[in-house]
Amino acid sequence: MWGGRFAEGPSAIMREINASIPFDKALWREDIAGSRAHVAMLAKQGIVSEADARAIDDGLQQVAAEYERDGVPEDWDLEDIHMTVEARLTEIVGPAAGRLHTARSRNDQVATDFRMWVRAANTRAIAGIDAVLRALVNRAEEHADTIMPGFTHLQTAQPVTLGHHLLAYFEMLKRDRSRFADALARMDECPLGSAALAGTGFDLDRDMTAQALGFARPTRNSLDAVSDRDFAIDYLVSASQCSLHLSRLAEEFIIWASQPFGFVKLPDTLSTGSSIMPQKRNPDAAELVRGHAGRIIGCTTSLMITMKGLPLAYSKDMQDDKPPVFEAAGLIDLSLAAMAGMVADSTFQTARMRKAAEAGHATATDLADWLVRQADIPFREAHHITGSAVKLADSKGVALDGLSLDDLKPIDDRIDERVFEALSVDASVAARASYGGTAPIQVRQQVKDARSWLEKN
Ligand code: ARG
Repeated sequence: MWGGRFAEGPSAIMREINASIPFDKALWREDIAGSRAHVAMLAKQGIVSEADARAIDDGLQQVAAEYERDGVPEDWDLEDIHMTVEARLTEIVGPAAGRLHTARSRNDQVATDFRMWVRAANTRAIAGIDAVLRALVNRAEEHADTIMPGFTHLQTAQPVTLGHHLLAYFEMLKRDRSRFADALARMDECPLGSAALAGTGFDLDRDMTAQALGFARPTRNSLDAVSDRDFAIDYLVSASQCSLHLSRLAEEFIIWASQPFGFVKLPDTLSTGSSIMPQKRNPDAAELVRGHAGRIIGCTTSLMITMKGLPLAYSKDMQDDKPPVFEAAGLIDLSLAAMAGMVADSTFQTARMRKAAEAGHATATDLADWLVRQADIPFREAHHITGSAVKLADSKGVALDGLSLDDLKPIDDRIDERVFEALSVDASVAARASYGGTAPIQVRQQVKDARSWLEKN
């Protein structure tokens, strides 16, 4: 393809280090779509004849059919997917195939192909997120009243509702979705027609190719267009942040599924057994989601480091952009699918959750709040009094609401029998009805809002 000025061919090492076909063959659909759009435009502009354009287009369709049927051949001598397609096209069409590359370089070609691939990956991620979001809302509605301990420092803090806890992840994933959507809007420009770096002397219609390939407009600066990989980094950053949320959710499922917690039974379909310990149900899928987050973040770092020192315009380092993006895309798609299934099909052990919420003096704040409200005691003092009550309950081996009035009176005689209304976990969550709070009435409102948001998006 470029042998004209060389006396000798590349060494075996050169061929091997140069070859991207083992991975960039994943771009064959985009490459052929890009070429078809390009040749149609060249014909309309009178740059190639209608007859040649038709022969080339027919040939490209034949190549596509062959790849669909047999896969893409891997010949290192042909370097990459662009040369591989063109070489086969030349066999089919003859010398006229050589007109396809008029006013084009592999630099704008690969930038265009890769953008289209990343665009589709973004769209897939959004659909994957939507499935998790729907599962979260459904389970949150089902468990708007289910009481569990809320934690800080993984220490029992205050009772919360499971619905509220699940909707926290709804918020996170909703932000992730907006990051992918935002990336999608920003990458909606077509590099094709930027040629090698400086544009071209041919009279192209870049709006036509942009439109044919589903982009809003052509890119504005040819140097930027061939050297920009922001679209891929945007995608990877969005995927990283999403994977981090999925990893946190996975981590909670892992903890909850452990025997000391026993808050959840993971679906059989997403658990594995042990080859030696027959009783085991291992949360492997959740652990791999947690593990994959590390790999996805690694992919992001990889591409950022590839790009950070590159002068304008194209450098071959940029060929290394694809493996991390392909890897991360596979991992985030799988992680989203696994977590959608886990949320939808897990069985929450609501009795265990409630028992745990009742066990850790989770309503201590409610006692302090009650003292503030009923006895007009400053919060700091109320906190101290409550601490003494917790200490007594601990020494007696009972929960806070297991203390009698006779126990409480000596601690502070402003306490009366009405306090017991505040000390149950039900009263505690019902009281937290502030906007965004954990009360079932709030959770139901949040579910309603979430559903109408999902319908609109
Ligand atoms: N395989 C190359 C890549 O993925 C295509 C562009 C090559 N351009 C060049 N001037 N060598 O980046």
